[in-house]
Amino acid sequence: MTRAGLPASLVLVGAGKMGGALLEGWLADGLPGPRVAVVDPAVSPETARLCGTHGVRLNPPGLGAPEALVLAIKPQGLEGAAASVAALVTPATLVVSVLAGKTLADLKARLPGARAVVRAMPNLPASIRRGATGAAASPETTEAQRRVADALLSGVGLVEWLDSEDLIDAVTAVSGSGPAYVFLLAEALAEAGAAAGLPPEVAARLARQTVAGAGELLGRSPQEAATLRQNVTSPGGTTAAALGVLMAGDGLAPLMRAAVAAARRRAEELAG
Ligand SMILES: NC(=O)c1ccc[n+]([C@@H]2O[C@H](COP(=O)([O-])OP(=O)(O)OC[C@H]3O[C@@H](n4cnc5c(N)ncnc54)[C@H](OP(=O)(O)O)[C@@H]3O)[C@@H](O)[C@H]2O)c1
Repeated sequence: MTRAGLPASLVLVGAGKMGGALLEGWLADGLPGPRVAVVDPAVSPETARLCGTHGVRLNPPGLGAPEALVLAIKPQGLEGAAASVAALVTPATLVVSVLAGKTLADLKARLPGARAVVRAMPNLPASIRRGATGAAASPETTEAQRRVADALLSGVGLVEWLDSEDLIDAVTAVSGSGPAYVFLLAEALAEAGAAAGLPPEVAARLARQTVAGAGELLGRSPQEAATLRQNVTSPGGTTAAALGVLMAGDGLAPLMRAAVAAARRRAEELAG
C-alpha cells in the first residue's frame, strides 16, 4: 500500500547518503518509481541500480515543474544546484530541504519561484528508516503541502513539526547530533568496563550490545524512558548505586544540558 500523501510527481536533487535514504524510504512506502526523477550528476552504483529496478528516472532531460522537489545536496552545493533546478520551482511547487544551516530565507533567495518551503533536519538513523526529523514550514505552505512534506519525511522515521524555524538549531543539537552522544555512551561504557577488569574487547562488545538492545527496547516500548529505567532499578541494588552517581547534581543531566547548549550555539554560528 502506498503511504497517504506522497506526491504525484517528485524531483530529488542530490541522491547521496541522505537523499538515497529518502529515496529508499519512499519506494519502500509504495511510491511508484516513475513518479520520481533524480537529479544528481554522480549517483552511486547502488542508487543507480535502485533507480533502474523501480523505474525512477535518472537525470532525465526536459523535466517539468514537479508537485514536490526535495533538496538533499551538501549545503555548500546549494548555489550550484539552484542554478540548474530553479526553473523547476513554481509558486505551486513544494520545496523540502534537508540542508543543514540553510534557512527558509536562504532557500527562497536561491529559488525565486518558491513559496511553500519546508526546512527539515533529519539524522543519521534515517539510513535505516529510524531517523528523527524536525521540520518547519514557510507561512505560504498549505496544510495539504505540509501533509505531503510529512509523508516524504516520514519515509525515514519520526517527524516533529516546529512552530518556529528558530527551533531547528535546537533540533540539530538534540536529534541531529544526538546519535554521536549515544555512540560516545557506548565508548565510555566500554572503557569503564575495561577499567572494572573486563578484557577490553569483551567490554566493548557488551557495551555496544547494551546500548543497541536498550535503544531497541526503548523504540519498541510505549513506556517513557524514565519508567523503563525505574523498572530495572531495585532499591538498594547495583543499578541504583550507579544511577546515584549518574543522577547526582553534577551528573549526566547538567552535562547533557551543557552539551546540547554548545551544539545549539554552534548551529546558530554556522547558519550565520
Ligand atoms: N547524512 C546525514 O546524516 C544528514 C543529516 C542531516 C542533514 N543532512 C543534510 O543532507 C544533505 C546531504 O548530505 P549527505 O550526507 O547525503 O551528502 P552526500 O552523501 O555528499 O550527498 C550529496 C549528493 O548530492 C550530489 N550533488 C552535488 N552537487 C549537485 C548538484 N548541483 N545537483 C545535483 N546533485 C548534486 C552529490 O554528488 P557529488 O558526490 O558528486 O558531489 C551527492 O551525491 C546535506 O545538506 C546535509 O546537511 C545529512
